Amino acid sequence: MFFVLLVAHGLNTLVAVAAPISIRPFAPADSEAVIALWRACRLTRPQNDPRKDIARKRKVNPEWFLVAERAGAIIGTVMAGYEGHRGWINYLGVAPEFQRGGLGRKLMDEAERRLRAAGCPKINLQVRPDNPTAIAFYERIGFAVEGAVSLGKRLERD
Ligand SMILES: CC(C)(COP(=O)(O)OP(=O)(O)OC[C@H]1O[C@@H](n2cnc3c(N)ncnc32)[C@H](O)[C@@H]1OP(=O)(O)O)[C@@H](O)C(=O)NCCC(=O)NCCS
Repeated sequence: MFFVLLVAHGLNTLVAVAAPISIRPFAPADSEAVIALWRACRLTRPQNDPRKDIARKRKVNPEWFLVAERAGAIIGTVMAGYEGHRGWINYLGVAPEFQRGGLGRKLMDEAERRLRAAGCPKINLQVRPDNPTAIAFYERIGFAVEGAVSLGKRLERD
């Protein structure tokens, strides 16, 4: 009996470990899981209401808002945009327990593939200065720190 349980447990573990990861566009039913992931990744900020960010993105190239799903759970996201000059990346996040496993690179590859197909010649993105992990990651996947100063102007308060 113990042996059978052990084998069954082993098989469960194997199935869980081997569960495939799919990358697909965001669907409205993903909202709560996505926001929880952003919180776990420290991507939310008091001045940005994540629900409003999702609603806005659903109106502009929603097919470039991607989630990574594994065994029914959302474990990664990336939001890409293109205004006809530069591609932009926001809300790239991988669930902490899946970081350093290649998923961040996969999400960026898929975002890049879609931007390229739209004719986008260059991707820009912003990283907060207190996030050396993200800078190291982006450099590793081919981005370079550039000298531009980042400015912003709020048009709507969340
Ligand atoms: C940044 C983030 C998305 C990276 O995702 P990830 O799945 O851990 O990254 P990957 O495993 O795909 O790593 C890709 C490459 O970057 C390297 N890398 C990742 N994190 C790194 C780190 N902290 N330091 C050095 N290299 C790093 C990996 O070693 C890998 O290199 P390799 O393919 O040559 O082995 C993830 O750390 C994260 O979600 N962070 C919190 C949210 C965040 O800061 N997002 C960015 C906002 S601008």
